[in-house]
Amino acid sequence: MPHVSLDHDVLLALLPIESVPAMSAWLGGEERDRLATIASGPRRAQFLAGHVLARQLAVEFAGGEAEGWHFHVGAQQHRELLGPGGRRLCLSISHSQDQVAAAIAERPIGVDLELSPEPRDWADLARRLFSPSTAAWVLGEGEAGRDRRFREAWALLEAQGKRSGDGVQRAVFRRLCLDSCEGADADALAWPVGEGSLALAGWRGMRVGAMGLSTAAMRAWTFSG
Ligand SMILES: CC(C)(COP(=O)(O)OP(=O)(O)OC[C@H]1O[C@@H](n2cnc3c(N)ncnc32)[C@H](O)[C@@H]1OP(=O)(O)O)[C@@H](O)C(=O)NCCC(=O)NCCS
Repeated sequence: MPHVSLDHDVLLALLPIESVPAMSAWLGGEERDRLATIASGPRRAQFLAGHVLARQLAVEFAGGEAEGWHFHVGAQQHRELLGPGGRRLCLSISHSQDQVAAAIAERPIGVDLELSPEPRDWADLARRLFSPSTAAWVLGEGEAGRDRRFREAWALLEAQGKRSGDGVQRAVFRRLCLDSCEGADADALAWPVGEGSLALAGWRGMRVGAMGLSTAAMRAWTFSG
């Protein structure tokens, strides 16, 4: 994994699943039980890669040994890693196609990766699923880029759902408005990934160390509503 500057309070990484070592020995009992219930091979690989990558980030962020960080689902569905000296880190994981993303911080965060190339009626979906202002942004001036904007809006809202612990809830997606803003005011960030998007929801003023992602292409957002 590439190294990143220590000037951050969120650590985020996006990697091909096959590049994450299959260290199943790092998993704890709760994770092994969960893995045992997953029949699909690709889904097992996604699960393992996400939980290994989260530990690699925890070690980078706070030190210790990867197997010394213990996964736990806490209150409000928040995923956590408990480590040396009672240290508690929040984590979020997302997978799409052959890629995995994870983030670690000391406060709740959410990550979502949307890469599906499936063509859909983006205008209709945006009108039905998003707030009027978010749908208007997705629709834009014309069809060009509409699929990318839809995936970006969806990824931002799903990342926020993971941060809050609500998950994907239609009523929340309909209510929340996304406003583009300056980086310093952002409580969420999005990066283009191929034809899709990776989004991170956190808090205003967060300093993100993003591995494998270009800051130049990043877009800053805030939620209202
Ligand atoms: C949780 C949920 C957001 C996952 O989304 P997804 O697109 O299937 O999958 P992603 O790869 O992006 O994310 C999966 C990861 O999110 C994490 N996760 C799951 N539920 C979570 C929650 N409530 N809050 C935060 N993180 C959650 C897990 O770590 C999971 O990875 P893992 O199982 O490998 O550890 C989504 O399934 C959900 O909200 N479900 C409940 C509500 C629902 O079904 N609504 C549908 C009505 S429209």
